[in-house]
Amino acid sequence: MMDEKNNTLPPYSAVVAPSGRWPRLRGRHGSPRRRRAFKLFALACLTLLVVAQWKQIWRSNARAPRLSLAKLNDDLATCKRLRHTPKDPVGLGRDSNARYIDGAKPTLIKNATIWVGEPVKGTSEGDARAGKGWEWTTGDVLLENGLIARVETHIDTRRLSEDTLVYDAAGRQLTSGIIDMHSHTGVDSLPELNGNSDTNEMSDNITPWARSIDAIYPFDPQIQVIKSGGVTTSLVLPGSGNNMGGEAYLVKHAVGRRDGRREISAADMLADPDRTWRYMKMACGENAKNVHGGIGKRPFSRMGESYDFRHAFERARELIRRQDDWCEKAEAVGVEGMGEYLPQEIFWESLGAALRGQVHINIHCYTVPDLEAMVDHTNEFQFPVRAFHHAHQTYLVPEILNRTWGGRTPSSAIFADNMYYKMEAYVGSEYAGKYLYDAGLTPIYVSDNPVLNAQHVLFEAAKGYRYGLPYHAALAAVTTAPADDLGMGQRLGKVKPGFDADVVVWDSDPLSVGAAPVQVWIDGTAQFKDPVELPKPRDGPIVPDEALANIIEEPTAFADALFTGVTKVLLASGRDEQTSSDGKPVNVVIAKGKITCIGPCEPEFSAATAAGVKPVALKNGYLTHAFTGVAGTLGLNEIDAESATDNGDNPYKFTRAVDGLQLGGKKLHAGAKYGVTRAISAPKFTGGQSHHGTSVGFVTTAATSLERGAVFAEDVAVHYTLDLGVRTRDSYSGAFGELRTKLMDAARATRDPADAYSEFAYLRRVVRGDMVLALTINSADGIATALRIKTQVEDALRGKTNDDDGDDNGRRRIIKMAILGGAESHLVAAELAAAHVGVILLPLQPMAATWDTRRTLPGAPLTNGTTVDGLLNAGVTVGVGLPEDWRVRDLALEAGTALRNGAGRLGEREALALVGGNIHKILGVKADDGDGDGEDGERRHFVVSEGSPLEIGGRIKAVGTGRGEVLVYV
Ligand SMILES: *[C@@H]1O[C@H](CO)[C@@H](O)[C@H](O)[C@H]1NC(C)=O
Ligand SMILES: *[C@@H]1O[C@H](CO)[C@@H](O)[C@H](O)[C@H]1NC(C)=O
Ligand SMILES: *[C@@H]1O[C@H](CO)[C@@H](O)[C@H](O)[C@H]1NC(C)=O
Repeated sequence: MMDEKNNTLPPYSAVVAPSGRWPRLRGRHGSPRRRRAFKLFALACLTLLVVAQWKQIWRSNARAPRLSLAKLNDDLATCKRLRHTPKDPVGLGRDSNARYIDGAKPTLIKNATIWVGEPVKGTSEGDARAGKGWEWTTGDVLLENGLIARVETHIDTRRLSEDTLVYDAAGRQLTSGIIDMHSHTGVDSLPELNGNSDTNEMSDNITPWARSIDAIYPFDPQIQVIKSGGVTTSLVLPGSGNNMGGEAYLVKHAVGRRDGRREISAADMLADPDRTWRYMKMACGENAKNVHGGIGKRPFSRMGESYDFRHAFERARELIRRQDDWCEKAEAVGVEGMGEYLPQEIFWESLGAALRGQVHINIHCYTVPDLEAMVDHTNEFQFPVRAFHHAHQTYLVPEILNRTWGGRTPSSAIFADNMYYKMEAYVGSEYAGKYLYDAGLTPIYVSDNPVLNAQHVLFEAAKGYRYGLPYHAALAAVTTAPADDLGMGQRLGKVKPGFDADVVVWDSDPLSVGAAPVQVWIDGTAQFKDPVELPKPRDGPIVPDEALANIIEEPTAFADALFTGVTKVLLASGRDEQTSSDGKPVNVVIAKGKITCIGPCEPEFSAATAAGVKPVALKNGYLTHAFTGVAGTLGLNEIDAESATDNGDNPYKFTRAVDGLQLGGKKLHAGAKYGVTRAISAPKFTGGQSHHGTSVGFVTTAATSLERGAVFAEDVAVHYTLDLGVRTRDSYSGAFGELRTKLMDAARATRDPADAYSEFAYLRRVVRGDMVLALTINSADGIATALRIKTQVEDALRGKTNDDDGDDNGRRRIIKMAILGGAESHLVAAELAAAHVGVILLPLQPMAATWDTRRTLPGAPLTNGTTVDGLLNAGVTVGVGLPEDWRVRDLALEAGTALRNGAGRLGEREALALVGGNIHKILGVKADDGDGDGEDGERRHFVVSEGSPLEIGGRIKAVGTGRGEVLVYV
């Protein structure tokens, strides 16, 4: 022990430093005098030793007074703190919340339908896990001193203090505030700008010393937007660029006086001002090696990462030992007897605290090898892990997770269905939440804001329910489960006396599509002055559908199929509406993959059953057209971050998507399973959500592009990107000017070029009005410029008509334009409508993440509607596309959100058109399957579901792929 200290502590090393000189001295002397020299040398050594020893004794006795006694006593006090093991802070028994600010009035929320967050008293653990004992109850909730004071069936207002604010929930559903256990809000402020980007301290791979609180920007507008989704608490983590990213902080989404706070500061946002627990972020896998690795630079591989982890833990453990030795000695001999101060190092302090059990460690780890290595490290260095984040593959290896040191199996913080974006996310399942839960583990849904908009993190839980996780476990996954993980399970996540008064009253069931708060309280203070409340049907709580847990992962392909119990037929043509308008269920007959009869269909039905077709019986069956996945990279990319799987960027070349088609991947398969039977994709310009070239229309179930019917439109539209992406190679004005020049050239030309597949040839078709000009633009300013250019080119075209022999009329040559993206398009909605320009939103509810999307609308309770509502009000044709391909599973739910939150602007049929017919209309594509019925091919491209596909509980039962077969979930 002493040796260890002597080697590392500066005072002692100074004493032994001269040793380095001996060899030189020796080397200078000749052999005849060697013996005498040796004697002298030995004597010198002895003298030095004696002197050194004497000095040492002298030091420990005489030098000690020269150390500050006050500082030594501080150090001794620090010893106590170092060895302190935190306990979860209690809730009940507090007079007030430590965050409470004197003078805030009590609030009584009357007549709410309450989700307490735990089952009724007396429910066994087994029953609770199985979903028994959980219920919504009606009652009143009193918030006082920043705490939930009472939750009772009826609270008499006459007995409350006079200044009590009364809020009538009118029976609406009330839950505790949503907790997002993985957020970068505040450190990755929006809109994303260089000056604001403080997520990763990438100066080094091991930065346990970094602290997110030092970078939290309280004015990040996203903090408020997130709260408008009912999220009251977020764990703000450093990013995942480093193996050890640093400390995370748990904050509440109340900032400054407007939100009932004392001041504008990160410290004031801390969910637990006493800082009982600390939190730390680590990350395994491909990020660190990709960020930091290189020839000669560690970590180059996962092996190097493991070494970096272990080395860091070794250093932290060493610091702990030195500290513990000091503390033990100081306690034994008294601080006066100490020859040095307590060893402290900022670099290793937090990691030391983690090994001492004071820090809740959260580790980004996707894959089996990453999980296995990390669990190995936990046992080597004896530390627990609270949760693995991005834990895509944990559902496959509960056994490995169970081997984590400390006896508590880590939770899995996951997305519901966001995957395929990198190699680590290529193995994943939307059923992971259910599988984890079934294995006795804990799924938690997180946003990784801004990766997902944390405003909608609750929707992840809703989808978890849709994918088979029990309703109560899905709600727990964004309330009680993260609260427990964070060590705040007695204060956050439940609606019970003693808990922090963070509560949300919802406009509809929290696990329904489009659910939005009508009011949010943080520490008992209402957060929205004039919250916008959308008119919605008061359906009351969802009755959990246990059948959702009966998962059939893969459908079976049939040529023929029969369905009974179809209560709603929502084909775009409307032709079949009358068959079910009397409310009586109908049958649907499929032959060779095509709908041949809707109605009683007695002869067809008997013929098919006689031929051995087994009818699928539905209770509340829906028949709709299938969906089209547009503007993503479907068919051109398989794993976003793997260039080998990607068609590549086309910043300078104008190319045709059909030339780059790669079919048969997981994403297309997932799409087909969720009713997306057709896709329209354009080559990328400079990365995701950008387009350059002509798009291709194809079916999602073909194995190659040569199969019959695989490609239904070789060149759908002519795409350009005039978005942030252009700034990597041009100015905005340069890019718009270039487009105008090209269009003008095409308008002026008198002959088509020899190469019918050249950019110029396609632009000739655009100025003739034969192909749609599809421009990817998010900013309202950019759209304004595009509309101006459209007019300029059309004026030129009309001028030419006058000069020409006039075989074309001006009207026919008007340019057909579409906007893709359109985050700010509501600001120019009237102009878009007047110019007959449709908008394909990417996604339905854009996020104000970048400079050119910053004016998009977050929706209720902050704004009256979102971008789509502004467009619909003006009469613009709207579609919804794929900003990222994983959303292919969610297109119908996006349409459902537009329906639910559209204040009656849309019916079910119009909502479905957002992801079907409207897309075809906007891009001018004939999606007809060639049978000449003019019905958008919906007799072959269809979806049969149990319940509405627009609702969270709707389950797809069959998909007509358009290729002579129907995929049936049996
Ligand atoms: C609670 O609200 C519901 C729905 O508005 C209403 O029908 C009921 O009468 C209310 N109950 C009380 C006690 O106010
Ligand atoms: C893991 O541990 C949990 C909790 O102790 C237990 O319920 C589960 O059966 C274990 N799973 C495996 C695969 O060992
Ligand atoms: C929201 O806008 C619609 C028109 O689009 C209007 O009818 C409604 O009254 C507005 N609601 C609120 C709360 O302002």
